[in-house]
Amino acid sequence: MTILVTGGAGFIGSNFVLDWFAQGTEPLVNLDKLTYAGNPENLKPLKDSPAHVFVHGDIGDRKAVRRLLEKHTPRAIVHFAAESHVDRSIHGPDEFIQTNILGTFALLEETRSWWEKQAPSQRDEFRFLHVSTDEVFGSLAPLDPPFNESTRFAPSSPYAASKASADHLVRAYHHTYALPTLIVNCSNNYGPYQFPEKLIPLMILNAITHKPLPVYGEGGHVRDWLFVRDHCAAIRQVLASGRVGETYNVGGHNQKTNVEVVNAICALLDEARPHSKIRHSTLITFVKDRPGHDRRYAMDISKIALQLGWGPTETFESGLRKTVAWYLDNPEWVAHVTSGTYRHWMEKNYANRGEA
Ligand code: NAD
Ligand code: TYD
Repeated sequence: MTILVTGGAGFIGSNFVLDWFAQGTEPLVNLDKLTYAGNPENLKPLKDSPAHVFVHGDIGDRKAVRRLLEKHTPRAIVHFAAESHVDRSIHGPDEFIQTNILGTFALLEETRSWWEKQAPSQRDEFRFLHVSTDEVFGSLAPLDPPFNESTRFAPSSPYAASKASADHLVRAYHHTYALPTLIVNCSNNYGPYQFPEKLIPLMILNAITHKPLPVYGEGGHVRDWLFVRDHCAAIRQVLASGRVGETYNVGGHNQKTNVEVVNAICALLDEARPHSKIRHSTLITFVKDRPGHDRRYAMDISKIALQLGWGPTETFESGLRKTVAWYLDNPEWVAHVTSGTYRHWMEKNYANRGEA
């Protein structure tokens, strides 16, 4: 038995791969293009593990995908690979269409043609698990009920639209070809190994170095935060016992405004660095808002809780404490990811925002 993971050198993918081997010994093939967001250092703890096979490649490279499927005959594919940052999708949507839509399509097509040739029992047991986001549902008003699995898709950003397209393709492959698919739509993740372009690691690293903390607009936008390892546990649970063809919403029951999140990070840093010359929250700077900025996301997770018995184990307070500690304890990882092209991104995204 083997599973194939795509995008397993990224933030959630690498946490999933590390947890996979912390739980068991089943081999795992990890296909990753190593874009700016893919980092082999995340997988360092597995460097002596022959059960982890890393393959540097693109999900859109159909020949490479075909060869991998034929060689390893996975019992499941867990598909993380994507372009994942909303702000980058605003500056340049092409890669998002290429990887998230066309790449997912290529992966589905190759999977289907390989899967159709397998023995009936292998076909029945096979699973294609697609990892998606709550952003496919669009934005909620302050008093709207949270998104559930029947909420209509209404994506706002090129990122969200590309993920919604991929979700539709996965659903269609189940409906039309009976490919045994599963989908998880998850809320905002945070935790170790997250690339510091996303809110939480960006704010931690800026605060440590006493740089401004750029909060978009007035900072009242709400996200539902989930510690990454809880998401990985949900994926394992859906893989093991999710009903084929179904989608599952995953979230943390942690709705926070961005200002609340940034203040919580600052309070933890004040505590960790009592001799710091400044209180970290004085670095908060309100800057020009993101175009088309979704106001609020929130997830109704009763389906996965009732049907599969999954729920988050970390509170926002406990998860954030672990996350801040991880970034403080891993200066080498931080130094490597923040050198080179990271600086170009910071310049591109923040230079013209000014103060709101
Ligand atoms: P990430 O940007 O940190 O990592 C993406 C990984 O995919 C990288 O390792 C990258 O090298 C790889 N990749 C990109 N294009 C590829 C291609 N064409 N072929 C092979 N590999 C490729 O992303 P993440 O935050 O870990 O997100 C993983 C998945 O989870 C994504 O599908 C994302 O949409 C979804 N998701 C993320 C969040 C979140 O809060 N981060 C929440 C819900 C869902
Ligand atoms: P982000 O981590 O990019 O995730 P997403 O856009 O997928 O939810 O952003 C989380 C929230 O934080 C979102 O409302 C945008 C906001 N934000 C800032 O205020 N400042 C920043 O520098 C960044 C990156 C995000």
